Amino acid sequence: AALRPTEQVLAGKTVTITAGPTREALDPVRFITNHSSGKMGFSLAEAAKALGASVNLIAGPVSLNTPTGITRIDVESAEQMQQAALEYAVQSDIFIGCAAVADYRAATVAEQKIKKQGDEITLTLVKNPDIIATVAALKQSRPYTVGFAAETQNVAEYAQGKLVNKGLDMICANDVSDSTGGFNSDNNTLTLYWKKDRLELPHSSKKELALTVMQAIAEKIK
Ligand code: CTP
Ligand code: CA
Repeated sequence: AALRPTEQVLAGKTVTITAGPTREALDPVRFITNHSSGKMGFSLAEAAKALGASVNLIAGPVSLNTPTGITRIDVESAEQMQQAALEYAVQSDIFIGCAAVADYRAATVAEQKIKKQGDEITLTLVKNPDIIATVAALKQSRPYTVGFAAETQNVAEYAQGKLVNKGLDMICANDVSDSTGGFNSDNNTLTLYWKKDRLELPHSSKKELALTVMQAIAEKIK
């Protein structure tokens, strides 16, 4: 379905969006990742473009076509995503962290393929940088910073906690316990939270929701 015709409420604005999973290498042939499809982030990029914004889309490994007229930056690991995110965030009015960033990466990436050993193997993982918290903590050229939170329980409490702890301006919370939305689905159920406000959106397509989210952001920054 085509996006609703709408006013160019993001004309003159630059939006940077992270999308998809990250991929954390273990050795030359193996990695750790997650099931994020990137659909929500790509839909946000398309919606921002349709509303008149100049859009940078920092994408982890996904199999999606690039929406026309946007700048796509492909990355693999969280560290690569962090570097690209900071470079583009300082040139942006709005930063949206929609990527499912791997929380941990291997402490060391083996140079050669890891050989099969005994009956058990232990991997040591170390924490990845928190990309959106780093963007939100910028002292200069800080964009309006929007996060996402996919939760299976205590959705409101966890989402509001992330809003405060990461220093975000807004967070879009996704209840993934009902299995009719989330990681691989075309549909989603989102509630938007600000420090002093909330907005529950009706269950609908990611494309439809993306437009509503971008319009809500445009309203807040004007
Ligand atoms: N995020 C990020 N960098 C990370 C982890 C998360 O930028 N290393 C961002 C995500 O893109 C999202 C928000 O933080 O916008 C929330 O991600 P989430 O995984 O829900 O939060 P975590 O702080 O990692 O908490 P947990 O996974 O334990 O729920
Ligand atoms: Ca996480």
